[in-house]
Amino acid sequence: MTSTRGLEGVVATESSISSIIDDTLTYVGYNIDDLAENASFEEVIYLLWHKRLPKKDELTELKKQLSDNMALPQEIINHFKTYPIDKVHPMAALRSAVSLLGLYDDLSEDMSDEANYQKAIKLQAKIATVVTTFSRVRKGLDPVEPRADLGYAANFLYMLSGKEPEEIEIEAFDKALVLHADHELNASTFTARVCVATLSDMYSGVTAAIGALKGPLHGGANEQVMKMLSEIGSEENAEAYIKEKLANKEKIMGFGHRVYRKGDPRAKHLREMSKQLTKLRGEEKWYNMSIRVEAAFTAEKPLPPNVDFYSASVYHSLGIDHDLFTPIFAVSRVSGWIAHILEQYANNRLIRPRADYVGPGMQKYVPINER
Ligand code: SDX
Repeated sequence: MTSTRGLEGVVATESSISSIIDDTLTYVGYNIDDLAENASFEEVIYLLWHKRLPKKDELTELKKQLSDNMALPQEIINHFKTYPIDKVHPMAALRSAVSLLGLYDDLSEDMSDEANYQKAIKLQAKIATVVTTFSRVRKGLDPVEPRADLGYAANFLYMLSGKEPEEIEIEAFDKALVLHADHELNASTFTARVCVATLSDMYSGVTAAIGALKGPLHGGANEQVMKMLSEIGSEENAEAYIKEKLANKEKIMGFGHRVYRKGDPRAKHLREMSKQLTKLRGEEKWYNMSIRVEAAFTAEKPLPPNVDFYSASVYHSLGIDHDLFTPIFAVSRVSGWIAHILEQYANNRLIRPRADYVGPGMQKYVPINER
């Protein structure tokens, strides 16, 4: 038996949800560039779950189902109030809250297709409210109820700030959700599939996936990018900062990718959004600094920015707290996790690879007082 570090290059399943071929990303055959320019997040959710774009009435129905299911059980809100709030990372709160949601859903253990679809809707709807409500509770603010007349992206921003967002903010946030929705067999999606391949329930699969997304080598990178930009502080410092980090053999967050070689096709959209939004806010320094960091890093290493690099300055420009960046990734990616969970259930086999054992040979047990 031979092993491959990090399963690089290993094809672990068949999937008809998204593909990355020659650095082109598609969802169900639609190029991400086309979807980013034209599709709403709700259309993308429908596409990922049904493998086709919705008709008008189907989209209207999905939007209604989502806004009807956004409200949280009061128990979850009460639970947030018991957290050691100044110590809890919002990704840890999200991971715990999604697990808790399963306790308050009568369909949790029902594995029928109909029940799984109901759970999909509830999870997609409530994850937005979990993130926004936790954010408000930890600031001592009252939760904001979702509004039936707002779409998913608008509702998220509204529930977060309590103010109706501007059209340009809604458009930018919606596009960011579209860009993060699915990405083939990334670490969190693989985690979700491994979990539910034991025939565990959807809440368990999504909880496990959130745990995987949390790490800084995966979704957690976007928060670390903003931390880095804040440390750099001004454009002139970018080059020296990057050089010093690389000399110390440190990783620069937001760069490199296991699959892409020429570049992550999502990054150019986020770069453009960063340019526009930072200008709108009169805070171009974040965009300018990002450009300088990209130039300094790629001059040393031929590794282009990934989805996490420019999303940092985009979310910052939308007035979002930096530790909510990764939870927002989850708010979008849950659509992809659910699509993969449903695909796994539909043609399931337990995922159980082998390990190449490299430990000591046979040993004889030694009683404790003879060691
Ligand atoms: C996401 O997989 C997906 O699809 C994920 C994702 C999605 O949508 O789901 O696209 C989202 O997770 C994006 C990635 C976010 N993470 C980061 O930005 C963290 C920084 N990047 C890296 O640590 C790294 O590039 C990874 C984790 C993204 C990929 O890791 P790999 O494929 O295991 O590559 P590696 O760590 O083995 O690196 C190979 C070489 C090494 O140098 P050598 O030892 O061969 O000399 O490239 C170097 C690394 O040191 N390298 C970097 C670097 N990334 C790779 N050096 C400095 N800074 C970096 N960011």
